[in-house]
Amino acid sequence: MADLDDIRDGDNFGLNTPADTNSFYLKGMNSVDWGIKNRMSRIFNRKSGRTVMLAFDHGFLMGPTSGLERIDLNIAPLAEHADCLMGTRGMIRSCIPAENTKPICLRTDTGTTILTEMNHNVLLDEAEAISMNATAMAAMIAVGDAATEALTIANISRLVDVGQKYSIPVMGVTAVGKDMARDSRYFGLAARVCAENGASIVKTYYTEGFENVVAATPVPVVIAGGKKLPEIEALELAYNAIQCGAAGVDMGRNVFQSEAPLAMIKAVAGVVHDGLKPAEGLELFNDLKNA
Ligand code: R5P
Repeated sequence: MADLDDIRDGDNFGLNTPADTNSFYLKGMNSVDWGIKNRMSRIFNRKSGRTVMLAFDHGFLMGPTSGLERIDLNIAPLAEHADCLMGTRGMIRSCIPAENTKPICLRTDTGTTILTEMNHNVLLDEAEAISMNATAMAAMIAVGDAATEALTIANISRLVDVGQKYSIPVMGVTAVGKDMARDSRYFGLAARVCAENGASIVKTYYTEGFENVVAATPVPVVIAGGKKLPEIEALELAYNAIQCGAAGVDMGRNVFQSEAPLAMIKAVAGVVHDGLKPAEGLELFNDLKNA
């Protein structure tokens, strides 16, 4: 029973300071639950509003591709320089130390490899994402692929149902059918389908006209890096995407296949968070590489 004789009346009500009614700092997130906002805040830097996610989920499709032969050696040392780590449950459990405090974006769809018809994927059990303390969950949609479009859109829709239940944001990963142009029309369509189905983050590819893709996707958009490019071109890709309104990158090969992955992730972060121009990013890369 609380003491009744020492109830101190409050006298510090901040009457001259109105309650903060500012919008949440990430687009499209005003009306989502506190838990989703809180998790998004772990992924997206509060100051820049952007993120550098490090993607290393490629092996579930490609096996031990270059730069991912030993995730414990190649990726774990980069973790502290990323804002978020995107990988599969197997690699995260076996190769990323549990002391890691960086948020995890867990790849939650799986099923086929590059050796067969891809994208016939199913979702992991939601208990996996929760037990791994996932900050976000990612799944792909294959828009325009007659064999798998319906299945993959159903997957992301179900994943959002799960995410809503536990306040775990979902990242929709866009792919377009083999016969479709990889342009802003189709990536824009795929990005929009992710958002329409409730994704809180959309990962897509930079293309000409990218500003239209970002404008028509009402939640944060991040870009994949795609195949390995010379460092300056990868930095230009990140820079151009940011100029078009992207909220960052979810980059893999252009970091871990770089001749100096640590220098590269720091240079990418310089472009994404600190407004470095591509040439300045390259200078930083070269300085760090030669240090
Ligand atoms: C695509 O489905 C994979 O999830 C990769 O994570 C994604 O493509 C990003 O990696 P990269 O920058 O190598 O394209």
